[in-house]
Amino acid sequence: MSVYLGIDIGTSGTKTVVCREDGTILATATAEHPSYYPQPGWSEQEPEDWWRSTVQSVRQALGRAGVAGAEIRGIGLSGQMHGSVFLDNQGRVLRRAILWNDQRTAEQCRQIEEAVGGRANLIRLVSNPAFTGFTAPKILWVRQHEPQVYERTRKILLPKDYIRYRLTGEFVTEVSDASGTLLLDVAGRCWCKPLLSRLQIAEDLLPRCVESQEITGQVSRTAGEELGIPAGVPVVGGAGDQAASAVGNGIVRSGILSATMGTSGVVFAHSDQVQTDPHGRVHTMCHAVKGAWHLMGVVLSAGGSLQWFRNHLATAEMRLAAERQVDAYDLILALAAQAPPGAEGLVFLPYLTGERHPHADPYARGGWIGLTVRHGWRHLARAVVEGATLALRDCLNVMAELGIVPQQIRLSGGGARNPFWRQLQADIYGQRVALVNASEGPAFGVAILAMVGTGAYRSVPEACDATIRVIEEIAPQPASKAFYDRCYEEYRRLYPALRELFPRLAQLAQG
Ligand code: XUL
Repeated sequence: MSVYLGIDIGTSGTKTVVCREDGTILATATAEHPSYYPQPGWSEQEPEDWWRSTVQSVRQALGRAGVAGAEIRGIGLSGQMHGSVFLDNQGRVLRRAILWNDQRTAEQCRQIEEAVGGRANLIRLVSNPAFTGFTAPKILWVRQHEPQVYERTRKILLPKDYIRYRLTGEFVTEVSDASGTLLLDVAGRCWCKPLLSRLQIAEDLLPRCVESQEITGQVSRTAGEELGIPAGVPVVGGAGDQAASAVGNGIVRSGILSATMGTSGVVFAHSDQVQTDPHGRVHTMCHAVKGAWHLMGVVLSAGGSLQWFRNHLATAEMRLAAERQVDAYDLILALAAQAPPGAEGLVFLPYLTGERHPHADPYARGGWIGLTVRHGWRHLARAVVEGATLALRDCLNVMAELGIVPQQIRLSGGGARNPFWRQLQADIYGQRVALVNASEGPAFGVAILAMVGTGAYRSVPEACDATIRVIEEIAPQPASKAFYDRCYEEYRRLYPALRELFPRLAQLAQG
């Protein structure tokens, strides 16, 4: 039997999926790794911890699947995007990796835009404006603040590519993850030489960049012994977690989009051409499908807003859920559903950790607007769920302006598991939404890339057709859709009306 492994180096842990080439999942296992927050707004991890959690999750998943090492045909790697690992001339890690959610580089983002003559020029070069979480500003930060580290740096790798180096000894990345460095010519699918030269970053500090399904190396004898797999198993490029998750949901053709309601909310659209928003209100990146790109809108606290609500304002419901042995979110959502649509004129802005899309604003703040004495807990809860969903619609709206016409939106993440939230998404997006059979996310997506790279399928769409199918479709309810269209028109007016106030509130917060 042919077996494939997908390994996803996420923010909270590493997940391994073991599957057959027809998509049957044989086993999964997850091993956690810690984060470090040495200063407010900083976020770091230890690459050695990723290796440890990789070894642990691979061994555990293989044990559960009961497959022999000799059956493994290929491995795909996925991971949290934008992180930076600095290595010396012996391949040793020089400092902790700086992660995607680290906010220390606002000044370096400004410097990058200035170096190329402004934001619009940067978007022309690399299809995206500068974001604090991206890799390039982190490289500048280390050069400016830790010159002793920078001087010894010989390679800078993304998280999953560090694991590739440990597996195979090769320095390689692939186009989807490289798109999030801000150093890739996304249209040309190669490193952006003019930008590297403006920023005085030597290209040989970066790994070789290939297409996502290409074989990048083979598992070495020492790595194989640690993982319990034979030396020589091919490792394909893989993908950044968002593109990998899209492959795992079958988002590999125009017109099929996904909406993932996790801590962050992500709207993802496949595109056969490079389409860039000149205002940078969504990301444009290379897809893990050869010759294709994607647009992506990232809402930083979508499900995260409901998590905040649960933790701070639903302690009684959490206790009740534990007593009844049900999921606290399901309980909260059942109560939220009892408030009327639109929560009687109450709107929630979900900008609890600033925002990325469509408003790139670290100072943006959340809140309920429209409170009256009639509102109670259920209205507050419903407004949070609606606000998170309206924020994803805001990203869909930018995509619509760019000519993306959805025929179907595939749901995933926590928001896809609850029937009330599924229907709400159909009504608020105003589109048919669907669930697919595959729910293992990025790890499954890169196992598919491993199947394609090792010849089990001719293309990623062919592999997705063979392994992924829609199991449920939900249509918007016409009256509800019409009502939420009106809600959205008011929702989208709130951020511009409050924008000026947010930095002043942030100053007040500092005392
Ligand atoms: C994508 C992004 C996150 C990270 C962590 O742009 O910032 O999805 O990849 O999951």
